[in-house]
Amino acid sequence: MKLWAGRFSKEADERVNDFNSSIRFDSRMYKQDIRGSLAHAAMLSETGIISAEDGEKIKEGLLTIYEDIISGKLQFDPDAEDIHMFIEAELTKRIGDAGKRLHTARSRNDQVALDIRLYLRDESYELIEKLKDLIKVLCDMGDMHLDTVMPGYTHLQRAQPVTFAHHLMAYASMLMRDVGRIKDTVKRMNFSPLGACALAGTTYPTDRDMTADILGFDGPTLNSLDSVSDRDFCIELASALSLIMMHLSRFSEEIIAWCSWEFKFIELDDAFSTGSSIMPQKKNPDVAELVRGKTSRVYGDLMSLLTMMKGLSLAYNKDMQEDKEAIFDAIDTVKLCLDTFTPMLSTCRVLKENMRNAAARGFINATDCADYLTKKGVAFRDAYKITGQLVAQCIEKGLTLETLPIEEYKAACPEFDEDIYEKISLEVCVRERKSAGGPAPCEVKRQIAKVREFLMEEL
Ligand code: ARG
Repeated sequence: MKLWAGRFSKEADERVNDFNSSIRFDSRMYKQDIRGSLAHAAMLSETGIISAEDGEKIKEGLLTIYEDIISGKLQFDPDAEDIHMFIEAELTKRIGDAGKRLHTARSRNDQVALDIRLYLRDESYELIEKLKDLIKVLCDMGDMHLDTVMPGYTHLQRAQPVTFAHHLMAYASMLMRDVGRIKDTVKRMNFSPLGACALAGTTYPTDRDMTADILGFDGPTLNSLDSVSDRDFCIELASALSLIMMHLSRFSEEIIAWCSWEFKFIELDDAFSTGSSIMPQKKNPDVAELVRGKTSRVYGDLMSLLTMMKGLSLAYNKDMQEDKEAIFDAIDTVKLCLDTFTPMLSTCRVLKENMRNAAARGFINATDCADYLTKKGVAFRDAYKITGQLVAQCIEKGLTLETLPIEEYKAACPEFDEDIYEKISLEVCVRERKSAGGPAPCEVKRQIAKVREFLMEEL
């Protein structure tokens, strides 16, 4: 029998029950549901809306339910409509009349809005920790590769010399913004909708500040209609999660390329690679590919949420029950990806020689050659043109700027001297790029120190 059975003359059709029920996916919010109910009951009893005795019974009842769910003694009833109904019905089963008073001055509409906020707040903190673990791995690897020269690319064409540490710290910057975005989402999420009731508040003398306070919110939400019809925080989080996945996907794309014979910049640990069922020689970067693939799921979840909300009149509509599977899937996917991606990265072998060899081909020191002339007073555009012609000569003769004879340099421009060879050596090119944010080892060291400071920050 449904808790709302009073108005109805017959039982709901079996198919409607199954269709309507959300316990399959909302039971994971049982802790938050109980936490919310404990706060609500404390408020009801404090304000005299229910007796202190009933308040006490409810508290004890909820705590035993909590323990029994944790120990496995109490199983979720798959026929229950949702986690809220399940716990309330179980409470009444255990403590009788007092249990029936818990839902005074509350609706499932503010209850569910509360539970999701509590759940997503907890998950957000976990996510931040996981992101920080990955950022830390980037810093540790960065420390070890300050001098590991590699080609920097634009258009996937070798462009200018950077170091592996510099490249890794670019991802650290992206992930720090991701942490910032989640923190930001939590800031707006962290207001309590409890007490908005179904949509129009209540005539009982409730104390919404008190429940907000008990539950660690920054205060109660402002407007009761908005409180129960707002899912912005789900969408904001899904959007932050989509950006995380976009970053992980770009990183995966590079890892996949770096593992190929064409690049061979890194080799993944055997424990984080997979083989082929037919080609015995294969070692595939499946983890990185799956992370890239799963990015689409998270984008899909964001689209589901946005689309689910776009046509809803105020306040609660049952459509909103669809929020949970989408946002839970997005969170689960990002956590799963981070849990596998981080150790995959930290255990990979960096093939410095191959990076250095790739950097030696492709004329990535051409800008430095032009800058050499510019520093001797030649206008940059002229220096650029002269260097371009030298590169063309090199290509024709199968040489590099390092092996081009000094006579050829001098013929192109009398400002060239023997020291050009030192100035265009890749190590010098990197070392001299010490502009703020650049790849020079001393500069990347400073970047890493900044990132480590960020990791120390409180939530
Ligand atoms: N299971 C519902 C959900 O997730 C709870 C709220 C139900 N409210 C209602 N008025 N039917 O949205």
